Amino acid sequence: MNEAPLYSQNNILQRHDALHVLKHYAKLVKWKYDVEERVLDVGCGDGNVTADILLPFLPENVEKIVGIDISNEMVEFANKYHSNEKVKFIQGDISAKELIDEVDEEFDHIFSFFCLHWIQNQRMDSDQSANAQDRKSNGKKREIPIQVIADKYYSIQ
Ligand SMILES: C[S@@+](CC[C@H](N)C(=O)[O-])C[C@H]1O[C@@H](n2cnc3c(N)ncnc32)[C@H](O)[C@@H]1O
Repeated sequence: MNEAPLYSQNNILQRHDALHVLKHYAKLVKWKYDVEERVLDVGCGDGNVTADILLPFLPENVEKIVGIDISNEMVEFANKYHSNEKVKFIQGDISAKELIDEVDEEFDHIFSFFCLHWIQNQRMDSDQSANAQDRKSNGKKREIPIQVIADKYYSIQ
């Protein structure tokens, strides 16, 4: 899935479903309105869902949204058309053993739309997502709210 322009013209289903899921479930996310928070979007693809659909659901205290995708082409397209002062996109494999430095920083909430079913080693993926959050809480275990919102959607209906 590398052809970003083609994907961006044909992801109406993903956009529709992401919007639908966020309308129903974004209110369940436990935001900390009094401190700055950071959001990671795993498998951001062309960046459209991250910037145009996810971003409007995030409260003001979210200071940074990072979309990560394994595909360089997707990330280049996303940065060209969907980055702004809050949103940026980086290339990286979420199932890689060592998270790349930029993802190794801290995130409070992790979303993912239509990505995790592409990842074979899902255990490692979810462990790493949890680790990325644990670092923010200085190693203390934290509840992970609805990060994988759309991927979980069909299992929680
Ligand atoms: C169907 S697209 C979804 C894109 C976007 N989230 C959306 O809803 O439109 C799935 C994306 O997951 C990315 N992906 C697949 N395996 C990945 C991995 N191991 N790490 C990061 N991204 C990955 C693909 O490159 C692709 O852009």
